[in-house]
Amino acid sequence: MAQIEPKLERNPAPTVDNGAYLSIVEVRKEFDGFVAVDDVSLDIRQGEIFALLGGSGSGKSTLLRCLGGFEQPTKGRITLDGQLMNDLPPYERPINMMFQSYALFPHMTVEQNIAFGLKQDGLSKSAIAKRVGEMLELVQLGKLAKRKPHQLSGGQQQRVALARSLAKGPKLLLLDEPMGALDKKLRSKMQLELVNIIETSGVTCVMVTHDQEEAMTMATRVALMDQGWIQQVGTPDEIYESPTSRFAAEFIGSINSLEGKIDEDRAEYVTIRSPALEQAIYVGHGISGYEGQDVVFGVRPEKVQISKSEPHQPHNKAQGRIEDIAYFGSHSVFHVRLPSGAKIMSNFTNQQRWASEGMTWGDEVWVSWDDNAGVVLVS
Ligand SMILES: Nc1ncnc2c1ncn2[C@@H]1O[C@H](COP(=O)(O)OP(=O)(O)OP(=O)(O)O)[C@@H](O)[C@H]1O
Ligand SMILES: [Mg+2]
Repeated sequence: MAQIEPKLERNPAPTVDNGAYLSIVEVRKEFDGFVAVDDVSLDIRQGEIFALLGGSGSGKSTLLRCLGGFEQPTKGRITLDGQLMNDLPPYERPINMMFQSYALFPHMTVEQNIAFGLKQDGLSKSAIAKRVGEMLELVQLGKLAKRKPHQLSGGQQQRVALARSLAKGPKLLLLDEPMGALDKKLRSKMQLELVNIIETSGVTCVMVTHDQEEAMTMATRVALMDQGWIQQVGTPDEIYESPTSRFAAEFIGSINSLEGKIDEDRAEYVTIRSPALEQAIYVGHGISGYEGQDVVFGVRPEKVQISKSEPHQPHNKAQGRIEDIAYFGSHSVFHVRLPSGAKIMSNFTNQQRWASEGMTWGDEVWVSWDDNAGVVLVS
């Protein structure tokens, strides 16, 4: 088993200073020299629903398992409510992990499943009955208390698993791909139900997902993971509107990424030369860059306008041809090919006025965006 650094053991530092309830400090996990989690530090506040989001193999589950005590970090420190967790086995941590398969006991009824952990703890019959009643109410399954798991829908099974996880009143709830076993429609319904239940119970929650929509819908804050690293931490809104790297910009939602070099670098504006466009891109605020620096300019499709006539603005416009229109019910995405070969995507809700203007495949159009519509990313 890995050694904990002695200095850290003697000093199970208070975590209250920065408002953190769960503190993850430089946690690293190696498997035979392969670094699955690379010195991750995160501070999570009480009552948060915090999502670890990333692609396959980015280290999300490994980090979650370190929190639950199912993996021992190679190095680093985990404290919860001021208590060092590192040396506690999973069953002594005030933490519960809900597994993707739910792992319900098939031969037990709903209420027996929920009561299981409480019985093991030796609670009195009346205390167990009271707590099970509370949990059934929380997940609204009172009417199904006598059913067995195979007599429940996927969403109901998930709520039983959640009730069982919360029965003992853990300080921290861990969810690994909680929607993994559900189909798409049920997923979005359960995402909101789960958030409701978690918020009502007040438990602090760390969840793992590879689904950006799920993270954005459910979480108060998101940590974007890549190759064991945290690329960015922020509210869903912050990560979407102000990504700090090309990876973050492209992982969340879709974005037009134009590579180029900084041409003019001023305090109040920056221009970027990109082979994709004839005109230099004009950004209406300064950045901490330098002339000649390689950058990527990113602009979200919903911030790109399309028009048949030339826009009045002096910058940030280009002529091209509509090559593709993808219809998504609530909105459509227009793909406009520029003379350089670059493609610019532009979103429109299907209620917007252009819809009646009859723009269609092959039309010559202008794309344009405001001076502050995009982000300049240096990596
Ligand atoms: N017990 C183990 N032994 C060796 N390597 C492991 C072990 N567990 C995980 N890994 C490796 O660590 C890396 C991170 O794995 P992890 O399961 O944390 O990824 P993940 O982000 O949860 O991915 P997914 O979305 O596919 O579940 C992977 O490359 C994986 O192969
Ligand atoms: Mg995983």
